[in-house]
Amino acid sequence: ASTLGAQAAQSGRYFGTAVAAGRLGDGTYTTILDREFNSVTPENEMKWDATEPSRGSFNFGAADQIVNRAQARGQRLRGHTLVWHSQLPGWVSSIRDANTLRGVMNNHITTVMNRYKGRIHSWDVVNEAFADGPSGQLRSSVFRDVLGNGFIEQAFRTARSADPAAKLCYNDYNIENWSEAKTQGVYRMVRDFKARGVPIDCVGLQAHFGTGGPPASFQTTLSNFAALGVDVQITELDIAQASPTAYANTVRACMNVARCTGITVWGIRDSDSWRASENPLLFDRNGNKKPAYNAVLTTL
Ligand code: XIL
Repeated sequence: ASTLGAQAAQSGRYFGTAVAAGRLGDGTYTTILDREFNSVTPENEMKWDATEPSRGSFNFGAADQIVNRAQARGQRLRGHTLVWHSQLPGWVSSIRDANTLRGVMNNHITTVMNRYKGRIHSWDVVNEAFADGPSGQLRSSVFRDVLGNGFIEQAFRTARSADPAAKLCYNDYNIENWSEAKTQGVYRMVRDFKARGVPIDCVGLQAHFGTGGPPASFQTTLSNFAALGVDVQITELDIAQASPTAYANTVRACMNVARCTGITVWGIRDSDSWRASENPLLFDRNGNKKPAYNAVLTTL
């Protein structure tokens, strides 16, 4: 096939991109979006600060724009993200009472998931809960500090009741290298959830890579997670300087793991990227395909 989405579909996978509502008026952007991608992740529009800026007052305007547009074009949608310590409004991070915070968290999950019920193939229920470095434990956040480690399980149980058809993912960065303590911490959590029947369906590996691309153990990490009985997805791929080899190695690792169900790049053109100065994406600022694009297409 001649596009990323169509080529990925030949093996039953999707190929997606992050989309920013503010760019939907740019014709170069939307031309590439609709030609190449069959899955869409709102880059910021479903985050807590966007959807519930003050308690109980929900705002879905920008997220709706992306969802309605994608749906009209038959593109699938990833939901990103329900519970995260970042882009979290101050009214949430200042809650100190556990019963209050539990209610607020459950209400947020339920209300956002209900809005898009049946329209989201996978939800990043919890994002970036683990600490970097050697601990392999959860990072400090209002959720962990006030609710305890059980907040993740609570979030997944609430998410399952809200939209039973959506795949529920745990999403994080720096969990691509099998030998990292952080990877091991997430692995133990997923293993524990599967053993105890806590609902979890997928692990999202963000894959924000440096110039060298994925660690040598990346495919091992994907298959080890998959062996626990979850799907794996590459959810936010970008690679400093976008070497074709680094991109091909990333895509090949996914292709070699049956339960690696899809890949999302974190933006379309370099100029759309949150790491714009590193030119990490598949299209240049004029919307032309870069060498990495062809490497991805031929590896899919
Ligand atoms: C980034 C967005 O791309 C930026 O526009 C925003 O300013 C900050 O967040 N991990 C994630 C994503 O899960 O939500 C982040 O997206 C990148 C890191």
